[in-house]
Amino acid sequence: MIELVDIAYVRSGTANAAEAVGFATNIVGMEYQGVEDGVHYLRADHRHHCLAFVEGEAGVLSSGLTVLDSAALNQAEIELNLAGVQTVRGTAEEAYSRRVREFISFDDPWGNRFDLAVDQHTDANPPQFTRRAGITEFGHLCVDAPDVRAAYEWWSTLFNIKISDWIGDKAALMRFDPVHHKMAVFQGAEPGLCHINFQVESIDDVMRSWNFLLEQGVEIEQGPGRHPQSTAIFLYFKGPEGLTYEYSYGVRRIEDDNWVPRYFDPDHPKSIDMWGGPTQRAQTQYQIRRPLNPATARQEA
Ligand SMILES: [Fe+2]
Repeated sequence: MIELVDIAYVRSGTANAAEAVGFATNIVGMEYQGVEDGVHYLRADHRHHCLAFVEGEAGVLSSGLTVLDSAALNQAEIELNLAGVQTVRGTAEEAYSRRVREFISFDDPWGNRFDLAVDQHTDANPPQFTRRAGITEFGHLCVDAPDVRAAYEWWSTLFNIKISDWIGDKAALMRFDPVHHKMAVFQGAEPGLCHINFQVESIDDVMRSWNFLLEQGVEIEQGPGRHPQSTAIFLYFKGPEGLTYEYSYGVRRIEDDNWVPRYFDPDHPKSIDMWGGPTQRAQTQYQIRRPLNPATARQEA
């Protein structure tokens, strides 16, 4: 069993880095950590970065997750390979580009690429947010798969992942620590990143941002609303190149080992938003599908 410790980052390709960085800083509020070798780093919490824009083709490149140490990473590599999942070791340069000490990459069976990493860099400076959106941390990430039940079965067989709640066969909200979900899988035909979430300090931050985003002409995809599963008050909005961001406040923590996952009918009008607001699905930024091999990985660095 591979023990995930945390989520680490999202790496997203951009064909227009100035626009992507401008949105992430001036609109979302993240701190710009600079650019190196065509990789632009954005920061939201103690992490050196939790979003990296890689100049090139637009689309998601990988999502980073962490395990405890090198031994855990070595063991994870063995377990993935035994399960028939191909892995590739990142080079030292690729690891530094991700601000981790070492990592392996793999694709889930539906084509979402993940990096499993050790020792993500912590930045000792407090984040210097570009705009005060109230962000407290990188909260969760959500990928797409055509069959969320099969996705959960895969993740929970190989990893310390538990189901927190189901939204029918449309979404699996999953945890590996007390936070209701740090990873989710939404139903979607093609692999990709459904959204990247940032937790904010208060409901006031969500509502202030809502008005700010409307003023700025940003497309609101959903919300403000409240998810009955996590109880989080949410707001989804669309950034450049189809990257969906979410602010949310008040996510449930599951401290009870005997938590029983609940099943919400996706056709019930309040299963997504218990306040009853409109609930169209957020847009996915599709996965850039490249073969998983060292030569390709080096080109992507
Ligand atoms: Fe979310």
